[in-house]
Amino acid sequence: MSSSVVYRSDYKAPDYRIESVNLVFDLDPQTSTVFNTMKVSPLGAQPIELVLDADGLELVSIYENGVQLPQKRYSLTDKSLTVHGIDKPVTLTIVNKFHPLANTLLSGIYISNGNFMSQCESQGFRRITYFPDHPDILTHFHVEIRADKEKYPVLLSNGNLVRRDELENGRHLAVWDDPSLKPCYLFALVAGNFVKREEKIKLANGKDCLLQVWVEPQNKDRTAHTLESIKKAIRWDEQRWGLEYDLERFMLVATDDFNFGAMENKGLNIFNTRYVLASPQIATDLDYFNIESVVGHEYFHNWTGDRVTLRDWFQLTLKEGLTVFRDQEFSRDMLGKAAAIKRIMDVRFLRSRQFPEDAGPMAHPVRPESYREINNFYTTTVYEKGAEIYRMLQTLLGREKFKEGLRLYLERNDGRAATCEDFINAMAQASERDLGQFFRWYGQAGTPRVTVKSFWDPEAHTYTLVASQSTPETPGQTDKKPFLIPLAVGLLDPSGKDIPLQLEDETEPAGTTRVLELRDAENEWTFVNIDAKPIPSLLRDFSAPVILNYPYCRSELAFLARHDSDPFNRWDAMNRLMLEALNDMVDAIETGARPSVDQDLLAAFEQMLTDERLAPAFRAISLTLPDEQLIGERRTLIDPEAIRSAREELRSVIGRRYSSVLLKIAENYQTPGEYSPDAESAGKRALKNLAFSYLLAGGNPKALLALRSQFEQANNLTDQLSALTSIVNSASPAKLDMLVDAARKWNGVPVLINKWLTVQASAIAQPGEVPVLSRVRELMASGAFNIANPNSVYALILAFCNNAPEFHRPDGSGYRFWLEMIQKLCKVNAFIAARIARVMDNWRRYTPERARQMHDALKLADSLPNLPTGVREVLDKALG
Ligand code: ARG
Ligand code: ZN
Repeated sequence: MSSSVVYRSDYKAPDYRIESVNLVFDLDPQTSTVFNTMKVSPLGAQPIELVLDADGLELVSIYENGVQLPQKRYSLTDKSLTVHGIDKPVTLTIVNKFHPLANTLLSGIYISNGNFMSQCESQGFRRITYFPDHPDILTHFHVEIRADKEKYPVLLSNGNLVRRDELENGRHLAVWDDPSLKPCYLFALVAGNFVKREEKIKLANGKDCLLQVWVEPQNKDRTAHTLESIKKAIRWDEQRWGLEYDLERFMLVATDDFNFGAMENKGLNIFNTRYVLASPQIATDLDYFNIESVVGHEYFHNWTGDRVTLRDWFQLTLKEGLTVFRDQEFSRDMLGKAAAIKRIMDVRFLRSRQFPEDAGPMAHPVRPESYREINNFYTTTVYEKGAEIYRMLQTLLGREKFKEGLRLYLERNDGRAATCEDFINAMAQASERDLGQFFRWYGQAGTPRVTVKSFWDPEAHTYTLVASQSTPETPGQTDKKPFLIPLAVGLLDPSGKDIPLQLEDETEPAGTTRVLELRDAENEWTFVNIDAKPIPSLLRDFSAPVILNYPYCRSELAFLARHDSDPFNRWDAMNRLMLEALNDMVDAIETGARPSVDQDLLAAFEQMLTDERLAPAFRAISLTLPDEQLIGERRTLIDPEAIRSAREELRSVIGRRYSSVLLKIAENYQTPGEYSPDAESAGKRALKNLAFSYLLAGGNPKALLALRSQFEQANNLTDQLSALTSIVNSASPAKLDMLVDAARKWNGVPVLINKWLTVQASAIAQPGEVPVLSRVRELMASGAFNIANPNSVYALILAFCNNAPEFHRPDGSGYRFWLEMIQKLCKVNAFIAARIARVMDNWRRYTPERARQMHDALKLADSLPNLPTGVREVLDKALG
C-alpha cells in the first residue's frame, strides 16, 4: 500500500542532460503518433541507465543514432522505458502512439469539443511520449504538428512559429521552436478550429510582442477583457518588479474541458473558459475580476515558474505560493481606492478553506515531505498559505529589500530548476538578515495560535503587549518550534484615532502601525506616552496567517469596526462581532431555545450600513455574514442544520428590522446606463444586491417584485444571477418559473448553464420543499450535466457537497450520493474524484451520528476495487 510514496529526501540530481528534443506529431483523435528525437549526454564517466517515464503509451520503435536499438539494450514496463548503458552522447528516436479521444483524465493530449488540447503539469507529458518527466530536466523543444487542415486549421505550440506548410491528403503542418529552456511539464500543444483576438504591443525594452487570445468561434466576442488583462499584467510586471516578457508572442487558448483554472505553459497559456470568457451577459463582476487575476497569475509564472522552475514537485510553492502572492498584489494594485477589498477576499478564502485543511487529516507543510499523488498537493496550503509566506517576507524586509531579493533570486536561478532554499538565500543576502527561523514556515504545518494580552499602566503612561504563540499538532508533526511572526499593530485612542507609536527604547514615535516580531514562545513590547487606555488593533492587514486571540469585548469590536484606520481590521472586527453573535445563536438552537440577536451587533451593523463615507464595496463585504463553513470552524461539533438556522434567522431579523434603510439602498445604488465591471460600479451592485438579499430573507414583498423585474430587465449577469439566487433561496414560488426562464436564456453557453446548476445545488431549501438532492439527481440526468466535464462536476456535485445542511442530512442520503459519485468519477477522471473525495476530510468534526455515517461511507469507498492512487491517498488520510 505504501509502495508508491515519494519522499522529498529521495531527490537525486540527474546524471545526464537532454540537449534537445524534436517532436513530430501526426495528429488523429483516435490514435496519434509521435516521433520523438532526443539528444542525450551522460554527465559523468559511468554509463547511465536512462529511465524514461510512460503512462498508457504504445511503443512502436526505438533507434539509437539512427539504428534500431536491440532488445537487450532496453526494458519496457507500463510506467517506463529504460535504455541501458548509454556511455556517450547519443541521439535516441522513439516512435510511439497515444489515444486522445480515450483520454478522459484530461492529462496529456486530449480532445475538447473536437479540438486537441494538452495539459502536462504535473505528469501529463509521459502520457504523450517517453521522456524523463521531471521538472529538473530542462531542454530545447522543437515541435512539428501535422493534422487535417479543415478540421484543425490552427496548430500551436510553445515559442516561435518557424514554418507552416501544406501536406498531402488535406493535411498541413506547423513548426514551432522554443528558444527557452524548459521542463516538459511546460510543453503545450493545441490543434483545432479557433479564432483569435490579437494585438501587437511594445514591451518596455522596446521590442514588439504579439498577443493572441484563441477561442472557439462562438466565443469570438467574449475575449476583449482577457486581452486587456494580459496587457495590464505585462505592464504591472514591468513597473512593479522590472520584469519583462521574453518571446515574440504570448498566446492564450481557452477550453471548456480543463481540470484546473489555467496553465502557464511557456508562451502558450491554456485556460479553462471560465477564466477567459467575459461579456456583460455571461460574466459577473466577480468573474471579470477573477479573469484579470488568473490571467495575471499565469502571465507572472513566465518568470516565477517558467524561467526559474522547480527542482522537484516538493518545491511547488516556490512557483505557486510566490505567483499567487504576485497575482494578489497585482489585483490589489488594479483596484486603486478599493484595494482593501482584495485583501479581505483573500483572507476570507484562507480562513474558510486553508485553515480547515491545516487542522484536518490532509494537513501538510507548505513544502510537503512526501506524497503518493502529487496532484493532491495543489492545495490551498501550497498556494494560499504559501502566498502568505512571501507576503510576510515583504512585510518583514520592507518592499524595497523584498524586491531586491526577488530580483537576485531570479537572476541567480534564471534557466535553472530551483528550491525554496534558493529563494530564502537570495532574500537573506539582499536584506542581510538571517532567515533561518523564518524558514520554518515552509516545513511546519498547522495554523499558529497567537494569544495577546495587554496591560496599561496609567501612572507610567505605558502600554504593554504580551504575545505568545503555539501551533497544534498535525499528522506526523507533534513538536512545533516557534515561528517568526510579523505582528503589525496599531493603538487607537478613546476617540478612535491612531496613536503615534514609540517603544520604550526609542527616542521618538515612528508611525502609527508597527511590525512587531514575535520570535519566541512569548515576547512583549512596551509603548510609552500612552495617556489613556487604548484599544489595540492587532495583526493589521492580516500580517501573518495565524489565529489571533485577544479578549475583545463586543463594544471594543464595535469600536474598531467604526474607527480602525486599517480597513482590513475594520472589516475583521465586524466579522468577529457577527461570528460571536452567530455562535451564541447556534448554541441556543442546539439546546432547543429561541435564538436572540445580539443588540451590539445590530447597532454596529446599522452604523456601517448607513455610513455614506464608506465605499459601497467595503460596506457590502463587511455586512455579508460569515459563511457557514466559517461559523462551523469554531464549534466543537458541527451541526450544519443549526448553523444554517442561526444564519438565516439573523438574515431575516436584519431584513425586517432595517427594511426601510435597505430598500433605500436598493434604490439608491442602481447602476443605470451601459454595464461596466469597474470596481466602483461593481461595489454599488454588490451593496444593492446584498440589501435585496436581506430584504428577501425578511420576506419583503416589495423587494420580491423589484428583484423579479431586475431578473427580467437587467443588462448584466451580476444583477440577473443575484436576483435569481435570492429568489431561489427565498420562500417565493416564483423561483420555479424563473429557473425555467433562465435555462432557456442560458442554454448552449456552458459557463452560464454551470451557474444555473450551482444556484440549484446550493439552494437553501425552505420548509416543506423537497431535499435539494432530489433536484440534483434530476439535473444529473438532464442534458445540462456532463460527468466528463470538470466544470460541470464542480458546478453541480461539489456545490451540492458544500451545501452543508443538505449534504449532511441526518438520513445519510448525502453520504450515499457521495459514495456513488466517487465510484462513477474514478472511472472517468481520477483527479476530479480525488477532489470530491476530500469533502469528507473533516468527518470527525461533525455531530456523532453524522460522523459515524461519514466514517462508514469512507470505509466503503476505501474498499472499492481498483481505486486510483490519488483517491486512495485522500481516503486513507481521512480514515487516519
Ligand atoms: N500551474 C497551474 C497554476 O497556475 C496549475 C496546474 C495544476 N496542475 C495540477 N496537476 N494540479 O496554478
Ligand atoms: Zn500557478
